[in-house]
Amino acid sequence: MNRREFLKITGAAAVGAAVYGSVGTLVKKSMKKGKKTVAINGSPNKDGNTYYALSLIADEFDKQSIPFSILHIGAEKIKGCIACGTCKNTGKCAFATDRELDVIEQMKNADGIILASPVYFGGIAGTMKQFLDKAFYSSGDTFAHKIGASVVTEAHAGGSVTTESLNQYLLIRQINVIASTYWNVVKGRTKEAIRADEEGERTMRNLAKNMIEELKK
Ligand SMILES: Cc1cc2nc3c(=O)[nH]c(=O)nc-3n(C[C@H](O)[C@H](O)[C@H](O)COP(=O)(O)O)c2cc1C
Repeated sequence: MNRREFLKITGAAAVGAAVYGSVGTLVKKSMKKGKKTVAINGSPNKDGNTYYALSLIADEFDKQSIPFSILHIGAEKIKGCIACGTCKNTGKCAFATDRELDVIEQMKNADGIILASPVYFGGIAGTMKQFLDKAFYSSGDTFAHKIGASVVTEAHAGGSVTTESLNQYLLIRQINVIASTYWNVVKGRTKEAIRADEEGERTMRNLAKNMIEELKK
């Protein structure tokens, strides 16, 4: 029995057509919209090692013409969360700068979010932490069911702990964390050493490929 015969017998033709029509429209819309990924660069250095790590990921997205933006937040003057609770009523941080609000908005509109930071004393760089506390506290569940990943650069140690700390923001807000083939850390004491970290580069490129696979689903 083909689909037409089945619908005739069950009398479901009209319903079937309506469902098919709406699904068809949805699929078309999502293809048209394109899937966007934003990467938050939490390093004070706009074009430093963290940017380099993100540029490896950007390169893989570019190869497949998938939108990818790096948003630099690490050199902003950002106050920490003062636990005023205003955002619980407004959905917005009362003390966020225009730049912070703009970046948060871009995160809400994205399908993928990458959080990137250099290691500072075994943890997330200060300005980035201030931003993340406010962005993720004020946004409630609005990031839920996106995909995400964390990226870290280090000179010597603390990369895996920092990655785990960044992942907490993603996990607590129900963002599906994408895996790669090793910890998402690029390591080196100098600019040259960072660029010579083959394992780090492979991990960044594989992370990008895995994110792209998810975005295509
Ligand atoms: C205040 C400060 C603290 C740091 N603490 C660590 C650390 O604990 N472990 C480490 O491996 N590197 C540490 N570093 C080095 C940076 O994490 C590393 O050089 C990183 O790649 C810099 O990235 P950027 O060029 O994007 O700023 C520290 C650097 C600074 C400025």
